[in-house]
Amino acid sequence: MASLVFLALALTAVFASDFEADLISGESKINGPGISWVSALTTPTKNLGTCGCHKQGVVKLTFNTSDRTKAEITFSLGKSKGYTFDIGDSHTNDGYGGDLGTQSNDAEVHSHDTALLFFGRDKAEGGHYGVLDSYYGFIRRGDVKITVEDSLVTAESGAKIIYFHSEQLFQLKGQADAEGPVNYDVYIGLNRVIDTDSLNGTGLCAVEVNWV
Ligand SMILES: *[C@@H]1O[C@H](CO)[C@@H](O)[C@H](O)[C@H]1NC(C)=O
Ligand SMILES: *[C@@H]1O[C@H](CO)[C@@H](O)[C@H](O)[C@H]1NC(C)=O
Repeated sequence: MASLVFLALALTAVFASDFEADLISGESKINGPGISWVSALTTPTKNLGTCGCHKQGVVKLTFNTSDRTKAEITFSLGKSKGYTFDIGDSHTNDGYGGDLGTQSNDAEVHSHDTALLFFGRDKAEGGHYGVLDSYYGFIRRGDVKITVEDSLVTAESGAKIIYFHSEQLFQLKGQADAEGPVNYDVYIGLNRVIDTDSLNGTGLCAVEVNWV
């Protein structure tokens, strides 16, 4: 019995996620390196949705070129409405690929209602690559799993899998940036976009992040 309890504790320790947050209760835990809150969870007073999954926050992931090159993010969704998650290469990404000129490496992958939308970074010659692809109906109840690494994003929902390799996506190997400092950071807006809680959503119930 004692050894079983010990085994259970050992397994819990081994399998704890690097980051997890419950957007119903507001409980969260950072267990791994390179992960921090930019905006801790808040409870909105308006636009609460119907499933109780409405707490909002922003998390920062700092990649590096040795053992933090790939993050796996699992979003557990209820009834998704609005901006349930926003993954961006710039701390002022505010949906649809914009970041008000903070970084030229400002690619963004976010949800809106049932759609998963991909936006490219800025072009070297000015302007930006804009929308790269849109997957309507991709965001549904259950788990949506997204992996982020340099120039590659994969997304999985139910039986559908997206594999998106493009130099126009996240730049995480120290590439030059025409507008801001070189960085290895990616931000995740939870039930909101990264830059502001005035663009928000409901239906993201929990999130887990692991360096893989
Ligand atoms: C990369 O991340 C790992 C794991 O957190 C850490 O041990 C290592 O020192 C980091 N390497 C660099 C080059 O920052
Ligand atoms: C969320 O969005 C709604 C409009 O959809 C807005 O009324 C509200 O102020 C926003 N902010 C928060 C914190 O809920």
